[in-house]
Amino acid sequence: MAKLHDRLASQIPALRDGMHALVKEHGNKVISEVTIAQTFGGMRGVKGLICDTSVVEPDTGLVIRNIPIAQLANKLPEEVFYLLLTGELPDAEALADLQGDLRQRAQVPDYVWTVLRAMPEDSHPMTMFNTAILVMERESIFRKKYEQMHKEEYWEAALEDSLQLIAKLPGVAAGIYRLHYKKGEPIATNPQLDWGEDYAAMLGLPDPSGEFANLMRLYMTLHSDHEGGNVSAFSCHTVGSALSDPYYAVSAGMNGLAGPLHGLANQECLAFVLEMLEKFKGVPTDEQLRQYSWDRLKSGHVIPGYGHAVLRVTDPRFNAFHDFGARACAGDNIFKMVDAIFRIVPGVLKDQGKAKDPWPNVDAISGSLLYHFGLTEFDYYTVLFGVSRGLGLCAQLVINRALGTPITRPKSVSTEWLRSQSKSDRLAA
Ligand SMILES: CC(C)(COP(=O)(O)OP(=O)(O)OC[C@H]1O[C@@H](n2cnc3c(N)ncnc32)[C@H](O)[C@@H]1OP(=O)(O)O)[C@@H](O)C(=O)NCCC(=O)NCCS
Repeated sequence: MAKLHDRLASQIPALRDGMHALVKEHGNKVISEVTIAQTFGGMRGVKGLICDTSVVEPDTGLVIRNIPIAQLANKLPEEVFYLLLTGELPDAEALADLQGDLRQRAQVPDYVWTVLRAMPEDSHPMTMFNTAILVMERESIFRKKYEQMHKEEYWEAALEDSLQLIAKLPGVAAGIYRLHYKKGEPIATNPQLDWGEDYAAMLGLPDPSGEFANLMRLYMTLHSDHEGGNVSAFSCHTVGSALSDPYYAVSAGMNGLAGPLHGLANQECLAFVLEMLEKFKGVPTDEQLRQYSWDRLKSGHVIPGYGHAVLRVTDPRFNAFHDFGARACAGDNIFKMVDAIFRIVPGVLKDQGKAKDPWPNVDAISGSLLYHFGLTEFDYYTVLFGVSRGLGLCAQLVINRALGTPITRPKSVSTEWLRSQSKSDRLAA
């Protein structure tokens, strides 16, 4: 860990000074106002959080440390983790150092398997994943050292816990896949492989072309972070702000990821794709697809994989997966179906006029690619997402502990108070 740790140690004093100077000189400046509609509307668009790892703008999508995600599609997830934390891509030496560090920590403790095997068979894989994270909390250095640490040292303990967690997440997640779907015993980590490739290998699916490993690397990179206000990042941030250790905080983020409007959407999207292939005995005509989409909207359902709380263009992560699919599985009906939906659904959503963003998000394609490679168990997909998002959650936690970010505590107001205030011009404007 020397290279990553040392780079952070050299950067953190300037980060702290910069933050203090900004607050001291400009602390009273207003950057956001809040309307009554935003208060009832999930605080959409309210600027009240700092996240330096990545930003998501309506017209560009995900940008990690000033690099658009499209330019990172060929980078390893480990490189992206280093980038998230330090703002720099690692050189070969720093990358090898980080990979070596993760490999040393990759062994999943036996008690994790004991706990997972004891869980009811119908436990959701996300519940198993989160249970494994929580049961490993006993290892937390942050919690053990908390009483003795000066607060300037919190980030080091948070980094230590984060590296332990990130190193083990692929093994834990792959083991859950094998146990839950009765694929056999968990497969041991292979120190010859990189982080994403090792995860692919531990799942145990045949991969003669090596493309599944490529997909897993890409998947892990594309899902790693999505700024600070999404449900998993915000939940993790809030729990971490109470100085709960990274195991608790990441677990909180994962619980948010388990929701249908967040991480679960990719499985719903794949179900939508397969449903149509089944109903039309293959890829439907554009007219059939248009009608089917309208019927779904009229029955009160969303079109999964389309729309976004922030984006107003096609998600660049969708494009990166699309490029991969066009190269690796263009002939597969599933990929053709994803393509056909992309051609028709934005027009339907525009005609309906409700969704602010009629374009596909990353979930519109990710599940279909996994399915193509034999990872057909839908309810596992959020776990994959969780392994990847662990990178961003941990990076944000470490930085927040370095900056001494205080406990999250926005003010809530009552509906009655809003009613009484709504008569004021300023609020009603
Ligand atoms: C992602 C999502 C939750 C964003 O929600 P949001 O910020 O509230 O989106 P909007 O402001 O555009 O929503 C305005 C209206 O359009 C509707 N809408 C948005 N996306 C839609 C979609 N894909 N299909 C149908 N209707 C949609 C909303 O349900 C809402 O309807 P309402 O006014 O009746 O409640 C939403 O687009 C959605 O449910 N998409 C499908 C699920 C999905 O892909 N989730 C993964 C996100 S990464």
